[in-house]
Amino acid sequence: MAMAEPSRTQMTDGLGRRISYLRISVTDRCDLRCRYCMAEKMQFLPKNQVLTLEEIALLADLFVARGINKIRLTGGEPLVRRDIGDLVRRIGRHLGNGLDELTLTTNGTRLINHADMLADAGVRRINVSLDSLDPARFAHITRGGDIQAVFGGLKAAQAAGLAIKINMVALKGVNDGEILPMLRWCDAEGLDLTLIETMPLGETGEDRTDHYLPLSQVADDIRAHYALTPVSDRTGGPARYHSVAGMTARLGLITPLTNNFCADCNRIRMTCEGKIFMCLGHEDHVDFKTALREGGLPAVEPLIDRALRLKPARHDFRIGAGETAPATRRHMSVTGG
Ligand code: 5AD
Ligand code: SF4
Repeated sequence: MAMAEPSRTQMTDGLGRRISYLRISVTDRCDLRCRYCMAEKMQFLPKNQVLTLEEIALLADLFVARGINKIRLTGGEPLVRRDIGDLVRRIGRHLGNGLDELTLTTNGTRLINHADMLADAGVRRINVSLDSLDPARFAHITRGGDIQAVFGGLKAAQAAGLAIKINMVALKGVNDGEILPMLRWCDAEGLDLTLIETMPLGETGEDRTDHYLPLSQVADDIRAHYALTPVSDRTGGPARYHSVAGMTARLGLITPLTNNFCADCNRIRMTCEGKIFMCLGHEDHVDFKTALREGGLPAVEPLIDRALRLKPARHDFRIGAGETAPATRRHMSVTGG
């Protein structure tokens, strides 16, 4: 074939939404056990069920060829995967050549060893999950994490020139008193902050309803101290950003439960098992791993269109009001945040 057909290089779902952003969970494993995310004794996937780094790279190539221009690597904790640098560098080769941005979401515990690698591979921005600045509270939320490792990782990432956004899950009765201090700290450190509502994903052995804190309320509390002005620029993700009077730090709010952001969703997700999920809140998916292992990339190509047809209009997360079961049995660590 002499010319590529335009319809093959772009992905549009059944509702006309252009799909341009792929999140890849490179492992379901993590060195922390955040209470809202995982159960204390998590069963992780056996190795042979997880895509090899080479398989992930091949699928990423395919998606870039089909119009994905932003990729975020997540987990689990992506930096616990052995040889993750090989994958980051390999995907990074698409930057400026179909791919506009390669980013990473990490808990920061191993950043100290990987910050330079990320910068060298072309990563410019990362998200670091940090729900508390207090060592004891951090250890409580993560069931044993060492906050000093994260602080060290943040320093290394800044030294490597990476822009950093802190992700903080707002937890009523746990870290709600720390939201303003976290915002001030981020501003002082040259970081941005995004607050996230707890989402009902996977069993954690804890009742998330107890800790659900609507961000509409948090934003009102912040406004009592600082004027918030919505800014129009988006980073391709679900957060709505605000400038904060007197601060350089931007404040992002991700409100899946109080404010549906699905209408302009441009995202799809690939799990570490090679399942393509079109929505964090639905079980529908297409399995790329079996097709890839049995028939190679030509067997995978037609599945992309099947996946696009599966993208639902919206998730329907609910929390409280008699909702005891999670919206999905999958944890965020499987699907990728
Ligand atoms: N609800 C909200 N946020 C979650 N995260 C993980 N699990 C959940 C959940 N159930 C967060 C992590 C990370 C981001 C990718 O998602 O803290 O910052
Ligand atoms: Fe690990 Fe992130 Fe889940 Fe915490 S939220 S257990 S750091 S994957």
